[in-house]
Formats: sequence, C-alpha cells, structure tokens
Amino acid sequence: MKHKIAPSLLSADFLDLRKEVEMVNRSEADWLHLDVMDGVFVPNISFGFPVMEALKEICEKPMDVHLMIVEPQKFIREVAASGAYLMNVHYEACTHLNRTVAAIKDAGMKAGVTLNPHTPVCLLEDIIQDVDMVLLMSVNPGFGAQRFIEHSVEKTVRLREMIERKGLHTLIELDGGVNEQTGRRLLDAGADVLVAGNYVFKASDPIEAIRKLKAL
Ligand code: DX5
Ligand code: ZN
Repeated sequence: MKHKIAPSLLSADFLDLRKEVEMVNRSEADWLHLDVMDGVFVPNISFGFPVMEALKEICEKPMDVHLMIVEPQKFIREVAASGAYLMNVHYEACTHLNRTVAAIKDAGMKAGVTLNPHTPVCLLEDIIQDVDMVLLMSVNPGFGAQRFIEHSVEKTVRLREMIERKGLHTLIELDGGVNEQTGRRLLDAGADVLVAGNYVFKASDPIEAIRKLKAL
C-alpha cells in the first residue's frame, strides 16, 4: 500500500483557513489532520468543534482528528458530528481505553490510539487488535515546528514488528517533525501515514511539498 500524507492544519494561516483547506483539496494529500488541544493535557489551546464543523463543509479529504485533551470519551458524539473520519485519543488520557475505542467505532468512526514519545509500544499489546491506527508522537504534543525525536524511528520498527507478529492490518501514523529526510526514514521503519504541519504550510509551494512527501 502506498503511504498516506496528512497535512496538519495547526501550521496553516488561521486568517485564511478556506484558502488553506482548498489547497489541501487540490493536493495529493490523503487526509487532513486536525489537532484539538485543551490546555490541560498539553500546554496549549488550538481549536475545537465549531471550527471543525465549519471546515467539514469545504474539506474534501477525510478528517483525521487528533485529540490532545483529557477525558476524550466525553466528546465522541461531538467529534463524530463535526465530520471526523478517524478519532485519535491518547493512551495517557484514557483509563478505560477498551471501552472508549468501542464507543468511537459505535459512533461510526475509525479508532486511533496515540502514544506520547515516552510511552512504550509494548503497552498496546492488549488493545492493538481493536484499533484501526496507532499514532506515534515524534515530538511532545502541543506545538508545531518542533525538533524530531530520533528514538521515534526505532519505536516505529518495534510497532511494525508487533503488528506483523499478530497478523494485523493496523495503520501506523507518525506526527511531529516530519520532513523529506525524517519522512523517508519513518517509511523505511514501517510507517503508513505521515503527518506534516510546518513542512507543508510554511513551504513556498505547499502543494509541491505534499507531492514530495507523497513521492517518498
Ligand atoms: C503537535 C501536533 C502535530 C503538529 C505537527 O502537537 O500533534 O500534528 O501539527 O507539526 P510539525 O509537522 O510542524 O511538527
Ligand atoms: Zn497531531
């Protein structure tokens, strides 16, 4: 399967979101990645459901929603109503992850589980069979344009091994510090989906930046 590219809107021009989403629509991007932050789980606040609902009207790509919030299980209905194709919750934010994953699927979405850089992939041993995707953070969540954490490459290899050993088809998504160089290495390590914020939206030609990541 050819890998997927999910530009992260966090690095877009918030004064002109329509133009940015229309650029993504015209590009080779597979998904649009949306980062929701609450100022509690991460030390930053981004945007929430009203913004996503507005974007839903013009976004032609499936919406890959990354919730960096505490108690994400409280908002499954709202996330579904705001047009999400895939809902990613953090492992560190979910006490009853099995129940939350089931509820996300019952709401008609794909379910993703996200790991912070310090959370080992072995903790997924008894949940991975139930999830559609694992999102590995290759920066500490909360901000765009941070430095790539090198250890993420080795972590991707270990997650790929777990998925192969169990005979599963779970997707592996990487998020943080992705560019042509780190992206190539992550794909070689076993990643299926690359999120890219700064690399895409701060490029002089974002459509070309997406094309380059897609061509890796
Ligand atoms: C970070 C977010 C990322 C962020 C990535 O908390 O989850 O999606 O937008 O940005 P870059 O690609 O600039 O590291
Ligand atoms: Zn993200």
